[in-house]
Amino acid sequence: MVSGNLSFDATVMFDNPFHIEDLLVLDCETMKSILLHNHSGAICTQLAHSLHGASDELIQRFLRYLPEQRQRLFQQEIERDLAPAEVRTARQLILNKFFWELIYWKTPNLYEELTEGEHLHPGIFQALQPDLACKTVLDVGAGSGRASFECRRVGAAKVYAVEPSSGLLRILRQKTAARGEQQHIIPSAGRFDQIPLPNQSVDTVISCSAFTAADEQGGASGLQEMLRVLRPGGKIAIIWPRSADHEWLQQHGFHYVELPVAGEMTVAFRSYQSAVHCAKLFYAHNPAVLHYIEAQHTTAVPFSVIGMNPPRDYFWLCLDR
Ligand SMILES: C[S@@+](CC[C@H](N)C(=O)[O-])C[C@H]1O[C@@H](n2cnc3c(N)ncnc32)[C@H](O)[C@@H]1O
Repeated sequence: MVSGNLSFDATVMFDNPFHIEDLLVLDCETMKSILLHNHSGAICTQLAHSLHGASDELIQRFLRYLPEQRQRLFQQEIERDLAPAEVRTARQLILNKFFWELIYWKTPNLYEELTEGEHLHPGIFQALQPDLACKTVLDVGAGSGRASFECRRVGAAKVYAVEPSSGLLRILRQKTAARGEQQHIIPSAGRFDQIPLPNQSVDTVISCSAFTAADEQGGASGLQEMLRVLRPGGKIAIIWPRSADHEWLQQHGFHYVELPVAGEMTVAFRSYQSAVHCAKLFYAHNPAVLHYIEAQHTTAVPFSVIGMNPPRDYFWLCLDR
């Protein structure tokens, strides 16, 4: 599940637990990137409306990173007289828009709770084993390490796990230490457009449910950066891509692999209580998920009920020698 459903409407997408001041949790690079790629007139106006009554610190943060050509509109809209209901609506829109970033940064444990039950198809790592075993691997957008640990399981020598969110990096470091993997999994802060590694320093680059064609989640500049750190003859694997990005990936020379499954793949929540909690939090837009859990009294929910393609596919690209 790649973050950032970038549609911009007022529908309830999530049972959103966040408050506008929570946006202060994002670091400067993330804030800058969000504003660089989301500053249409409509978003800028809603952003300004959502910040009515917010702290000076938060308003100044947005003003600092908003592209110059939008600053006047922002100032004008932040001074506009608004009814409390208009501010509430704007806040809801903005918090829904940045829901996933807030989850990664503010409540990474909830992300861990959701994804620990989303098991990647083991055939993906079996198929990629020749490119992973005894190799130096980079996992970009590594999150709490779901794919990094899979790389180690099939014998990767070293995995550089690059991730922007400090909260997810903290969980990744804890898991790495608990599993005695500190010599092999090296977490560090970074982004698709700023990978903290030298040129031609890794054999294989992977990105699981993180790279998209959108510039703030990789895009053409992210692809260039992945190619920069890859050794000649190396491979990039984009695991569990968004369907919306298949065409873009094909146009950029990637090849598609989909693994067969016997029966349905499911999300296996850690407990019934956790399944209900996650369904209410993450799938409020799809009441069928909660209905399914309650009606079946189950902790395992098929991806088809959730309305997501299951994690059983990837795109790959080889860098010519
Ligand atoms: C859906 S999560 C996937 C995390 C992990 N790969 C996994 O499979 O669980 C998407 C991840 O991409 C990261 N991300 C978002 N924007 C990014 C960027 N510009 N560069 C690198 N990572 C980014 C997020 O912080 C988040 O950890």
